[in-house]
Amino acid sequence: MKILEVENISKSYGKLKVLDNVSFSISQGDYVALIGKNGAGKTTLLNLLLGLANPDSGSIKFFGKNLEGNLTHILNYIGIVFQQHTLDFDLSVKKNLIFYADVHGMQRKVSYERIQRLLKKFELSKFENYKARNLSGGMKRRLEIARALLKEPKILILDEATSGLDPATREQILFDLKELVQENKITILTITHLKSEITDVNKVIKLEKGKIV
Ligand SMILES: Nc1ncnc2c1ncn2[C@@H]1O[C@H](COP(=O)(O)OP(=O)(O)O)[C@@H](O)[C@H]1O
Ligand SMILES: [Mg+2]
Repeated sequence: MKILEVENISKSYGKLKVLDNVSFSISQGDYVALIGKNGAGKTTLLNLLLGLANPDSGSIKFFGKNLEGNLTHILNYIGIVFQQHTLDFDLSVKKNLIFYADVHGMQRKVSYERIQRLLKKFELSKFENYKARNLSGGMKRRLEIARALLKEPKILILDEATSGLDPATREQILFDLKELVQENKITILTITHLKSEITDVNKVIKLEKGKIV
């Protein structure tokens, strides 16, 4: 089954063509890296995938449905980890998860059980009452990944998930992702400018000045 189909997407800002006829697809269970230097157009592409901007031409389909016209439905099945931290730093680790689950209308019976499981999986249980601000950079990231998985999305998308982390922590996050694909059969699109991040993926999409190369 196709999770994502991007067909002939172009996007310009004024005279600058940021994405030029970009096409690719992602199937269920794929672990895909979108790699490109700074300024290649990666975040612009992500914004298009999330409906935060519209392409000038081309089409985007998730789960066989056009993004246009089905955005809220589709976003329900996407887990997202943005480049910048999006935690509430004043809430505890656990409350960051509870609040997210509540906002997304999850039944507490379901969400509480999943939260326990995710806290354990990402080794966050012993920090569950810490304020999110007091976590290390790596644990903040792991909390964001846990949160993105709460709704059991069909695809997890991460933008520069390991940027700013030390090498050991980076390894840990990459290990987490590999395990999610291997054990939980989760489909992942990871966006990065680092070649060292693409060791375990089964597909690489290379973006250079807005074009797939
Ligand atoms: N909203 C915008 N308005 C004008 N130019 C933009 C905008 N967003 C991105 N750009 C330009 O598009 C190019 C690609 O940016 P971006 O998608 O952020 O690249 P990446 O994430 O690969 O580093 C850059 O030259 C950037 O300056
Ligand atoms: Mg970027």
